[in-house]
Amino acid sequence: MNQNIINARVTFHSSPIHVLERFTFRDIDSAYSNFKEHSELDECVIIQTCNRVELFGSGKNYNIEKIKKTWASLAGLEENAFKENLEVSENSHAYHHLLKLTSGLDSMVIGEEQILGQVKDSITKARSTKSSGQYLNTLFDKAIHVGARIRNTTGISKGGISVGTMAVKLAEENIDELKSKHILLIGTGDISTLVAKSLGRRGYSFLVTSRTIDRAKAFCETMGGTPVKFEDVLSSFHKYDVMFVATSAPYFLITHERILNAIKENKNGMMILDLSNPRTVDEGVATIGGIKLMNLDQIAEMVDKNMRSRMAKVKTVENIINEELPVLEASMNRLDAEPIVKDVFKNINSLREKELKKALQMLDEQDEEKIKIIDELTKAVVESILSQPMNNLRRASEQGNHEILEAASKLFDYKKKE
Ligand SMILES: NC(=O)c1ccc[n+]([C@@H]2O[C@H](COP(=O)([O-])OP(=O)(O)OC[C@H]3O[C@@H](n4cnc5c(N)ncnc54)[C@H](OP(=O)(O)O)[C@@H]3O)[C@@H](O)[C@H]2O)c1
Repeated sequence: MNQNIINARVTFHSSPIHVLERFTFRDIDSAYSNFKEHSELDECVIIQTCNRVELFGSGKNYNIEKIKKTWASLAGLEENAFKENLEVSENSHAYHHLLKLTSGLDSMVIGEEQILGQVKDSITKARSTKSSGQYLNTLFDKAIHVGARIRNTTGISKGGISVGTMAVKLAEENIDELKSKHILLIGTGDISTLVAKSLGRRGYSFLVTSRTIDRAKAFCETMGGTPVKFEDVLSSFHKYDVMFVATSAPYFLITHERILNAIKENKNGMMILDLSNPRTVDEGVATIGGIKLMNLDQIAEMVDKNMRSRMAKVKTVENIINEELPVLEASMNRLDAEPIVKDVFKNINSLREKELKKALQMLDEQDEEKIKIIDELTKAVVESILSQPMNNLRRASEQGNHEILEAASKLFDYKKKE
């Protein structure tokens, strides 16, 4: 290729999260302009999430030392900070890494969905600021397409893999029109955070309660949801159709009696998902008609099953990536031929138009029908002469045959635009 692709990354594989944070870019726009100016990169894309900070770059003669230097100065680090944390992949290894990213194989939780969206956002942002160009745009578009297809065909992302997501999925599966139901979340700790995130991502409205209203308010400010007083909840369970319960209360907060009273007023029935250990919901409520109770053991078992099912699909995903890699490589290599092909068609077409104009003047042809026929004839001649050699040129480029590209550039007097 005329360009080389580099990926330099600091990820959770090599660095704990608190170390990873030190490598983040505070101002992505300024990072783009600095990498281009100081690291001999023509194009760049940054992917920055809580598990990774990654730079993809394209350039003819980039220099990894300059990349490190620029990165260190942007993040306010010593250059030797990269010693144990930085991983670098070039060309096909960088493509392979991006395919692993988009398909979810490089994630902490195999197959997780967020990374695909994060990669999409990164290339959209880079494109909008013209930080990326034809090389990285092509690479990312194709890798995103392959990643999405892999997820759809293998099911590597299927099923909840956190108790929070799984609980929300179970509620969706068991309750018709969940969006129209009254959902309550009891608890504002780590597990409630997972539930709230999952509810929020899926567009559900929900109420949140904690023993102190201030805690519930603070939780809702960051996680979404509407705070509601604990005392109000205790006296009005009948108002809720679905309850997610995740507290560390050492006793049953949701007793048989409370739910028996609630169900008298809520004839539609209730689903209660108790994620607590020890339980916050008395198991006995499951015997009350109209109540569906699921506990942590049942939910965790489903999460385990989904995780095992994902792990079983890793080999299939790897095989698809290995099949797709040469196709992606060929597409990237082909980019080198496109400017020559475009230039040749453009030049020959302008010659064709010039000669056609001359011939029509000599014939003094006025008949529009005939002029159209002659015009089409010249186009067909150009097309049939050029298409075979230009396709051969593209193929040679796909195979990385630079000699043919050089020869074609000389033959057609093609001058690269630097
Ligand atoms: N963390 C995990 O990995 C994990 C995994 C599976 C299950 N679990 C279980 O899920 C439950 C919540 O875990 P967590 O990690 O989210 O805990 P956490 O972060 O410590 O939060 C505990 C929550 O329980 C509430 N709480 C404590 N005592 C209470 C009481 N007497 N009455 C009402 N609310 C009370 C606290 O709220 P206020 O103090 O503001 O009321 C807080 O919202 C626990 O039973 C835990 O065993 C945890």
